[in-house]
Formats: sequence, C-alpha cells, structure tokens
Amino acid sequence: MALWGGRFSSGPDAAFKQFNDSLPFDYQLAEQDIVGSIAWAGALAQVKVLSEQEHQDLVSALNALLEQVQQDLSAVASAGYEDIHSYVEAKLIEQVGDLAKKLHTGRSRNDQVATDFRLWSRQSAEQLLAALGALKSAFVELAERELGTILPGYTHLQRAQPVLFSHWCMAYVEMLERDESRLHDALMRLNVCPLGSGALAGTAYPVDRETLATNLGFSHACRNSLDAVSDRDFVVELLSCASISMMHLSRFAEDLIFYNSGEAGFIELADNVTSGSSLMPQKKNPDALELIRGKTGRVFGAFSAMMMTLKALPLAYNKDMQEDKEGLFDAMPTWLACIHMAQACIEGIKVNGEKTRKAAKGGHANATELADYLVAKGIPFREGHHIVGQLVQIAIAQGKSLEELSLETFQEVCDVIDEGVYPVLELDAGIAARQALGGTSVTQVESAVRVAKKKQQIL
Ligand code: ARG
Repeated sequence: MALWGGRFSSGPDAAFKQFNDSLPFDYQLAEQDIVGSIAWAGALAQVKVLSEQEHQDLVSALNALLEQVQQDLSAVASAGYEDIHSYVEAKLIEQVGDLAKKLHTGRSRNDQVATDFRLWSRQSAEQLLAALGALKSAFVELAERELGTILPGYTHLQRAQPVLFSHWCMAYVEMLERDESRLHDALMRLNVCPLGSGALAGTAYPVDRETLATNLGFSHACRNSLDAVSDRDFVVELLSCASISMMHLSRFAEDLIFYNSGEAGFIELADNVTSGSSLMPQKKNPDALELIRGKTGRVFGAFSAMMMTLKALPLAYNKDMQEDKEGLFDAMPTWLACIHMAQACIEGIKVNGEKTRKAAKGGHANATELADYLVAKGIPFREGHHIVGQLVQIAIAQGKSLEELSLETFQEVCDVIDEGVYPVLELDAGIAARQALGGTSVTQVESAVRVAKKKQQIL
C-alpha cells in the first residue's frame, strides 16, 4: 500500500508506478533509513508522542529489520514498494501493527531521504578516504623502491628532461593528497542533519534536533528547513571530488599505458591486472588501466547530470531530486574500484631501469644542461639557448647525442666551451642539479618521500 492513498480515488497505473518508484535503486538506503528511523523514534519519545514502551517496541522491531536487510539487501530492491521509506514502514506494520503508523509523526520523506542520503554519503566518503590513503602509500613505497631509476620526463609527449621515476610517483602522491583534502572538506559540509525539518517548513513537534543530529553522528542540525530538504550540494561536491580524482587516475592510467607499451617498454604490468586476446596469443593488454581511463567519463557524466538536474529547481522539494541517487550510487563505487585497481597496478609493477635510462639519455634531453653550462660561462640564457639549438641541429645531422659531439664541433659553434662540458652532459648530472625545492634531485625526492611518510603516520 502507498503511503498516501487517502486523497486518491484510484491508484497509479502500472507504467506510472514503474516510472515513479525509486525502490529499485534507493533500496541501497535501507540501513540508513532504519538507523534514521530509530533516531526519530527516540526524538518522538522525548516529546511524548511515543510512550517509553512504544519507543522500545519500535526500536526492537527496527533493529530486527536492520538485521534482516543487512543479511539480504538485494531482496529489498524487488519488494515492489514505492520507495525505501514505504518499504520500511510496511515491514514495521507487519511486525508491530498500528504502532508502526505513529513513527511518521512530524516527519516527511523529504527530510528523511535527505538524512538517509547524507548517512550513505558519509559512509562512502569515509571508505574512499581510506582507499586514497592506501593508494598514496603504494605510490610512496614504489618511490622508495625506485629511487635509482631515471625516467625521461615529457612535455608534449616529447622527451624533455630526465626525472627520477620516484619523482613521477610523488607527483601522484601530491594529486591524491589534494583529492583527499577535498573529500575531507566535502565530508565536513555534508555531515549535517536534515531530520526534523519536516516536509519543508520544519516539524511542529518540539524535538531536540541537535541531540537527534548527534545521535546519528552528524556534527550539527541543518539550520534552515527549506534548505535542509532541498540541498543536494553535497551530492554535487562528492561527484566533483570523484571527477577530479578520476581525472588524476585517468592521467596515471594513461602514463602507465604508454610506459607499458611495446614502444616504450619502461614497465611491465603484473599478470593479475592484464588480460589476453582471444585471437593474438602474444598479447598482454593493460585492461585495468584502460578501464580506469574509460570509467572516468562515466563519473564526469554523473557530475554533469546532477548539475543539470538541480539547475533552476524551485525551493523546496521537487521529485526531480529523486534523480540524485543513481549517479552517486554508481560514481562512488566506481571511484573506489578504480582506486583499488590503481593500487593493484602499482603494487605489481616491474620497472625496467635500463630501458628508462636509455630513453632518458635520448632525445637530446640534456640540452637544458648545456644551456645552463653556457650561463655559468657568462653567456645570457637566451643567447645560450640559441647556441644549444644550433648544436642540437648539428647533433641530429650527425646522428649523435650532444655528449658524443667532439670538442672541436662544440668550439666551432661557441668558443667558451671546454672539456668541462662533458660531465655536465651526463644523465645523473642533470638530475643532481635540480636541488631547489620540488625538483627531481635525489635529495629533494627523498625528502618528499620522508614528508609523505610522516604525514601518513599522523593521519
Ligand atoms: N523517493 C523520493 C526521493 O528520492 C523520496 C522523497 C519523496 N518525497 C515526496 N514528497 N514524494 O526523492
């Protein structure tokens, strides 16, 4: 039976019912709906709408129901009720009869669903924070392990300057740290309690909303009832956190797909995150990474869908807002799964240090070192840049690297160059030179690793 039949002389037709029902997806809020109802029963007892006995009977029935849904959540989905609130009320009536009909006193599905969804979001955000932390640790461990590995650094996907492989790892630690801090922030704002706001105008029963909020683990009660039932900023914020973080994960995936390619051969992914081809026996494809990259689009889609749905919605509740759930229900577990996969990829990675070193030496990626050498000889950087450009052109014509040019060739172009140029052009010299904060020298990267490890112990 629907929660609202009295005013109607006929029921919804089947197509409308199917269109309108949210139980097939909001069954995921079953636990939260019951937990919220237990807290609401407490509030009603406090204002004497429920006697102590009634309160106890309701709470034990709700607890029994909680156990039941925890055992088989998916059975709830197909139970045929309009939504999770109708389901819980119907099940409660089955257990305690008319007493169950008192529970909705002073409450609306509008404040109820907002509360349920925030409880779900909080749980999901906490899970994601833990997963982000674990992925960060995996990157830091890899950075520590590969401190001796030199990688070509790219701009425009052209070899630009060599960097430590660990520097690359620590770049992602920085991104993940921002993802974490954004999510912390969103969590802080979403952790407020709409319950007790009624349908839109507030509840007519003098419940202590702050106690209610505290009992549900919220930091405080929402201050304005209209806002409380209408606000879905928290969904947008979570989807935005998810999108930004997925954007980072997709870049990570793309980097590794390239490093793993036959052409680069910098890394080898473990068997447990790759798959084969049904036709080509030699293939070992980076499916986990491609799926991370692919699923990013799906999460962005959920974010923009939510923005579109909320745009220009008048206050307060509108049924449009029922569309808030599926995107988040899909995006958060997708984000979580991608983080777990990224971690699995990182943990099983084999880095081919010889290949990365060879590649880092190619592409005249030490040209900047040569320009800096000329600066040290008193030549203005812009002029030095031009001279080195000419030398690169000569090296290309001779099929050589810069360090393979003879001293005569160097001096024909610029007579201040002497024997001292050769050590400058060595691969490790370019790395060692980058001592300023945030650079790729071993000391800087080691210190970044130290800082990250220290922070993680604190968190
Ligand atoms: N299923 C609804 C939703 O998710 C619950 C709130 C319904 N409120 C209402 N007044 N019809 O938004």
